[in-house]
Amino acid sequence: MAEQAFVTLATNDSYARGAMVLGKSLRNHKTSKKLVVLIGPHVSDQSRAVLHKIYDDVRLVDVLDSGDTAHLAMMKRPDLGVTFTKLHCWTLTHYSKCVFMDADTLVVSNIDELFDREELSAAPDPGWPDCFNSGVFVFIPSNETYGRLLQFCTEHGSFDGGDQGVLNGFFSDWATADITKHLPFIYNMSSIAIYTYLPAFKQYGANAKVVHFLGATKPWSYTYDPRQRRVRGDVAAAAHPGFLLEWWTLYSGEVVPMLMREYGDQPFCSGCEEDAGESEPVQTLMSSAERKQRWEQGQADYMGIDSFDNIQKKLDVFLK
Ligand code: UDP
Ligand code: GLC
Ligand code: MN
Repeated sequence: MAEQAFVTLATNDSYARGAMVLGKSLRNHKTSKKLVVLIGPHVSDQSRAVLHKIYDDVRLVDVLDSGDTAHLAMMKRPDLGVTFTKLHCWTLTHYSKCVFMDADTLVVSNIDELFDREELSAAPDPGWPDCFNSGVFVFIPSNETYGRLLQFCTEHGSFDGGDQGVLNGFFSDWATADITKHLPFIYNMSSIAIYTYLPAFKQYGANAKVVHFLGATKPWSYTYDPRQRRVRGDVAAAAHPGFLLEWWTLYSGEVVPMLMREYGDQPFCSGCEEDAGESEPVQTLMSSAERKQRWEQGQADYMGIDSFDNIQKKLDVFLK
């Protein structure tokens, strides 16, 4: 029988770090399945080297972008057009069945039983539960399905500008046809649910098997003090502090050492405060190459690292 695999996607170095943590979490919980990561051409060589150590299969794919700024603006996530790239996962026909997982998910217990499910199985989206959330889903690779999905994109587009809109349009009977295709929420527990329904989280949260850091603020948007084992920033805004700490413990303990070996003497920001110079706190996880790329694409982080204050400080240093 052909093999089965967990699949994720990273088009840049930030999401690649998420993929590294996800891969480690699957291995630590002793999955018997293969691990595959789809990467875009902008992922750095150093990140690729680390991904090769964690994943069985690292595949370079073309970035597909919906370019649908109007729908993406409604979600306040202009960056999510590239999630169309996720559709490439249907081309992994070397595998008989796969489970796709977003790079911002973390596995907290073995989930190999998901491979008993059929295509397309997924958990409800917390914002609109008659839609499934496309952060975790079971699928069967097939070039025919891939072709039909691309055709669907051309004819109908995506109602949210990202892959979730397309997939819900394509697998449109998910909500009503077959309850076995509804994964329990514990396989894709988005941190948002903790705040929208706290008593349920208190009752059932301990059963969660997959945590999904859904939304604009990701675990790697914070900084971490490994000595005090503390995540800094507005932690309550995005995730349950316990899960966020679990992500950072895995990242700083198992992933950062691998990244440091790859970067050697070259500058690189891990997000852990101890490797930041005294006067320059780490603000983001971007490599300088990635930051340059973002600038060139007109995506400077004006509220954060590229803020006017920071630019002014840099200018002052140069002018002195
Ligand atoms: N993704 C990526 N690069 C991007 C944006 C997204 O590789 O610039 C991938 C990544 O696997 C990510 C998934 O697409 O987890 C969906 O995006 P995200 O998780 O940010 O969406 P959310 O779950 O917050 O709606
Ligand atoms: C969602 C999903 C994510 C998807 C995005 C765009 O909120 O969590 O996986 O990429 O919508 O459709
Ligand atoms: Mn996600």
